[in-house]
Amino acid sequence: MSFLNSVKKGIILSGGTASRLFPITLGNSKQLLHVYDKPMIYYPLCTLMLAGIRDILLITTPKHKELFEDTLGNGEHIGIRISYEIQPKPEGLAQAFILGEKFISNDPVALILGDNLYHGKELFQKIDQPNANNNGAIVFGYPVKNPEKYGVPELGCNGQIKSIEEKPLKPKSKYAITGLYFYDNTVSEKAKQLKPSKRGELEITDLNNTYLKEDKLNVQFLDSDNYWLDTGTFDALLEASNFVRDIEKKTGNKISDLD
Ligand code: DAU
Repeated sequence: MSFLNSVKKGIILSGGTASRLFPITLGNSKQLLHVYDKPMIYYPLCTLMLAGIRDILLITTPKHKELFEDTLGNGEHIGIRISYEIQPKPEGLAQAFILGEKFISNDPVALILGDNLYHGKELFQKIDQPNANNNGAIVFGYPVKNPEKYGVPELGCNGQIKSIEEKPLKPKSKYAITGLYFYDNTVSEKAKQLKPSKRGELEITDLNNTYLKEDKLNVQFLDSDNYWLDTGTFDALLEASNFVRDIEKKTGNKISDLD
């Protein structure tokens, strides 16, 4: 079995303050805002389900936990299991593996950000997994116009990853490391070793660099059949809605539909 197929648990991180979207997020969670015809959270949830994951931990703020429970329940109605955990303060993406340690137990786990949208053919079928030992990490690169806003890989002359920098002033490539990650069962231990960054967060980029130092980071670049959309700004949110609307009108099928 490949590493990816061995991952049966997933965490959706849906906390944060989403201050860039004030005032619409003053009384609501960003990840419950609509992207065209469904709540944003449906999209990352469906992405995990596409990867064969049925056991899900949703991490959110104390203020929004009940709203997510009202929206998704325990998942039984769609054949999955959803449990909930609170992140008291937004202290970084990698904190998910400390808060989720009990849920993860001794298993490999995926993490997806609750505001990331993936769409495309065979997203998980095309992954090259040379590591047969079922360990390490898999992350996804995607070309963007504004890499300085993301985790950015530096590539060596034959395409190997040399390092990943978080929001570099001078990005060393045009790729973003997107908000979907697969890790082996050492992830909670590794997350506990991280020190908060200058912005006071346990950085996912530091976690990925830990795997890289052990030569266990597999970076897959999404090809042109696949799309990754971030929804961090008003424009990006509108573009995501328009994207979903266009696809649904063209194909006559709903995407990421749970009903
Ligand atoms: O979107 C991909 C990018 O996500 C990666 O390229 C970066 O390496 C990674 O650091 C992250 O960057 P962002 O600047 O987009 O992270 P942001 O602080 O906006 O958080 C992403 C989502 O996670 C957002 O919906 C809020 C949520 N979040 C964030 C933090 C820091 C939490 O739920 N808890 C947290 O502690």
